[in-house]
Amino acid sequence: MDPKKLPENLHRDTLAVRAAVDKSQYGENSEALYLTSSFVQPDAATAARRFANEEEGYIYSPFTNPTVTSMEQRLAAMEGTEACIGTSSGMAAILLMCMGLLKSGDHVICSWSVFGSTIKLIGSEFAKFGVESTFVSQTDVAEWKAAVKPNTKLLFAETPTNPLTEICDIRALADIAHGAGALLAVDNCFCSPALQQPVKLGADLIIHSGTKYLDGQGRVIAGAICGPKNSSTTNSFRSCAVPA
Ligand SMILES: Cc1ncc(COP(=O)(O)O)c(C=O)c1O
Repeated sequence: MDPKKLPENLHRDTLAVRAAVDKSQYGENSEALYLTSSFVQPDAATAARRFANEEEGYIYSPFTNPTVTSMEQRLAAMEGTEACIGTSSGMAAILLMCMGLLKSGDHVICSWSVFGSTIKLIGSEFAKFGVESTFVSQTDVAEWKAAVKPNTKLLFAETPTNPLTEICDIRALADIAHGAGALLAVDNCFCSPALQQPVKLGADLIIHSGTKYLDGQGRVIAGAICGPKNSSTTNSFRSCAVPA
């Protein structure tokens, strides 16, 4: 769904409350929660076009849902990315990103300092499918550089890290990734876009776990990938998340 048209150059604080799908016909002040598994179609021909991806429209909430679209549009606006895909958790976001990007024979470079489940996912689970990985010091840029191989497709950083709160030089890692023809993904869960926008420092993809500062109240399990709208990468994510 195309984002609601807003004036240019709004401050992030404003985007944090204004970027979302349009209000419903009732003009609710606070966004409606669309607690529905699926959507009634106006007629069979429209349904056929929507199922064929020829026309935008809500069909089935596991694909898209206006409440989730609002969250995606707001997070994309705050991160300064064209698009965002909401997921059921932070680990679901990392899994989806890796599934969309990687194939057997590819290589990933990742910091040793990232959230433990991410190390397990990239280092052990993806190894089963022939994806190689090298883990490096969070803060030693030379180690990241030395780890690059001809088959490196992804550099994955989390900054600050959970739980050691180590930071990394996003710009330097972006330069290394792009010099190798790879992408840099940054898990921005601890800072949130309120404090850090990694795309402004050259990162390609942003990961979020909604359980931390995005929620702020300890009530939510959610995740997201923010990035470009029409790159092959984002299309891969969509085809993983939403069958074509
Ligand atoms: C930095 C970071 N990324 C990702 C995750 C995974 O997110 P989730 O628990 O929502 O799957 C966590 C969880 O603690 C985390 O701290």
